[in-house]
Amino acid sequence: MPTIHLNGQFLPLEEARISVMDRGFLFGDGVYEVIPVYSRRPFRLHEHLARLQASLDGIRLTNPHTPREWENLVVRIIEQAEGEDQGIYLQVTRGAGPRDHAFPKEVQPTVFILPLALIPPARELVESGVAAITAPDNRWLRCDIKATSLLPNVLLRQLSVDAGCAETLLLREGFLSEGSASNVFVVAEGVLLAPPKSNLMLPGITYDVVLELARAHGIAHATRPIHENELRAAEEVWLTSSTKEVLAVTTLDGQPVGDGRPGPLFRKMHAAYQDYKHTVMRGKEIA
Ligand code: PDD
Repeated sequence: MPTIHLNGQFLPLEEARISVMDRGFLFGDGVYEVIPVYSRRPFRLHEHLARLQASLDGIRLTNPHTPREWENLVVRIIEQAEGEDQGIYLQVTRGAGPRDHAFPKEVQPTVFILPLALIPPARELVESGVAAITAPDNRWLRCDIKATSLLPNVLLRQLSVDAGCAETLLLREGFLSEGSASNVFVVAEGVLLAPPKSNLMLPGITYDVVLELARAHGIAHATRPIHENELRAAEEVWLTSSTKEVLAVTTLDGQPVGDGRPGPLFRKMHAAYQDYKHTVMRGKEIA
């Protein structure tokens, strides 16, 4: 049973208790992060904590901790967790109060940190790619906030499970936004394309790493709106997230993407990503 952190205490998961009046439970009134840990080193911790701050600002909740305090909490959880690689789940809700949509006047936020097993995609998935479907993006207009209220994402993700697929790619007014739990890249005419950051997608930490690696490795790339037609005609489609790393989509809505196998740019980026991960684990920075 892992040791978790709850409101200043470290304790076994089965002993952790929160109020049923917690606004995270009643309203999904909270934000979260998932931080990959490799060889017991958190990956891009400062970037995750900066995005947490942006999410807290987005829901008008004061950050209960300084970055240094967060770092100390995360390091203590990593030390006590089993396994060299972990995914640190961290969530802050607006705390417990009377059931009223309006913010309570004086309320202590609930802080929860849980170590999860981090299992990178199996080699077969990297080598064969995954199938995905598309669906209309029916979420709200603040998808840049990493909110715990994930019901639309849950329902959209389940559509792909029902179809035997790995992810649901979301289209809003004819343009690609992201996946139900990942960002999406496409390759068109040899150029790596990604939707630009906006209120319509989560600014992924892995998305940033992939764009940095594209720059470092001389891969032609651009961030600009991607039309549904371009997605369907793409030579390659990739998913990125802290848990999936970079994965190729080789079937989209039952049709092969390109020749139906992970493409050359994917293979180059996947290798670059693995190299970079190992470099970070040795404490060096990107070249
Ligand atoms: N999800 N878009 C959405 C909607 C996401 O939920 C995620 C990640 C991403 C990718 O962001 P990042 O590269 O920072 O992981 C994009 C996490 C892993 C989750 O909810 O479990």
